[in-house]
Amino acid sequence: MAKLRCISCGAMPDSAGQDFRCVACGDLLEFFFPEWTLDQPDGAKPRHHTDPSALKALWLSRRTSRDALDQSGVWRFRELLPHIPAEHAITLREGNTPLYHLPRCARVAGVENLHAKHQGMNPTASFKDTGMTFAASSAHQGKFRWVACASTGNTSASMAAYAARGNMHSLVLIPDGKISWGKLSQSLDYGALTCQLRTDFDGCVQILNELVRQKPVYLLNSVNPYRIEGQKTAAIELMEQLAWEPPDHIIVPGGNLGNSSAIGKALFEMRDLKLISRLPKLSIIQAQGANPFYRSVREFGGKKLEAMTADTLATAIRIGNPASWKKALRVLEATGGEVEQVTEVEIACAKAEIGADGIGCEPASAVTLAGLKKLRRSGFVKPGESIVLILTGHLLKDPDFTIKFHRGDLFTGTPHQSEAAAAKPLQRAPVELDAKLGSVIAALEAAERNS
Ligand code: F0G
Repeated sequence: MAKLRCISCGAMPDSAGQDFRCVACGDLLEFFFPEWTLDQPDGAKPRHHTDPSALKALWLSRRTSRDALDQSGVWRFRELLPHIPAEHAITLREGNTPLYHLPRCARVAGVENLHAKHQGMNPTASFKDTGMTFAASSAHQGKFRWVACASTGNTSASMAAYAARGNMHSLVLIPDGKISWGKLSQSLDYGALTCQLRTDFDGCVQILNELVRQKPVYLLNSVNPYRIEGQKTAAIELMEQLAWEPPDHIIVPGGNLGNSSAIGKALFEMRDLKLISRLPKLSIIQAQGANPFYRSVREFGGKKLEAMTADTLATAIRIGNPASWKKALRVLEATGGEVEQVTEVEIACAKAEIGADGIGCEPASAVTLAGLKKLRRSGFVKPGESIVLILTGHLLKDPDFTIKFHRGDLFTGTPHQSEAAAAKPLQRAPVELDAKLGSVIAALEAAERNS
């Protein structure tokens, strides 16, 4: 049986309150598993020894099952999750995302062995689905009528879909004008009550926290430890795809820092269970205009985090006060990872480079490649090491960004205009022509000469 404990004071409540915070000290809660977590309160020993090869064989066998839960890339790993009865499980067959080789990006970054786990290939096109299937199911088990989240767009899209599948109402709080149309349209189509608040993401979080104390709505932001449990399966699935041989590095974008916390938690647990024999270094990359965690680590040695007003075109990670920073710090320290920041132009170029490998992703995901290039230059990543980038969202989440980039308009009138010259060789603006065969042939021949 999984138990909750506070990450700061170690209190172990029997259940969580509406805001999922420790009643004693106000910090975040996490699940641990007395059966097998090595890091137990008061140094207690795990009660059981599971057989790692039996678990691996069981999970693999479920890939051929016709059962909906076995077909989910989250519920397939349920032995490592808290128990939620099957009748409450809401699944869209999330997870099961591909691991792609990135040969062109590898050349650009100066490494030999580079892969991307594309979490944008989930049902609502972002990594949020893996955590949402589990947390929405826990809301269903708790018989909630309403679920709610504050979001930069992906959490809300995912929540709205899972709430609809589970016959629950959903309330979305998003910053007005600061989320992409793709994400907004999802939440509308899936039937959420969508409120665009005249504030930023951090302002939306504040209002939601007050709301859940007054109204019986179930909070689905990543402070909810069920979200972290579902999301951790991405790392388990990744290790299975790598035949349980960990890469040297995993690189993730950092926004509210739930994802890095979840992936790190899975790595610790897989090590405890002897599913893997060593920990990869997990590095976290932030946009320079939304870098509170980078500053916390670099300026204050992780002793404190100063909230900031965030600004970046990678709107998914436009977050100034990340909730899970202490969990992420623990992962960074325990795995020996690094934290980096990247500029707006570096993000945009990296996004086009991932696109040119035939993969594509949304801007926030591209910070991983931009960060890898910096980590390679600093010598933290060596040319012969193996690296996995976690791509968090699909290219089509934010087509506006992509079109503006290729038309050369993305940075017009911004302080990044002069740096943006570096992006020119990557831009592929559409060619407008008269409807004549000769014009198309001329365009084809010109492209051939330039290729
Ligand atoms: N990438 C994408 C595409 C995201 O949507 C997010 C977060 C992140 C990276 C950062 O992940 O917050 O776990 O560190 N999006 C949230 C949302 C905040 O509301 O959709 P994180």
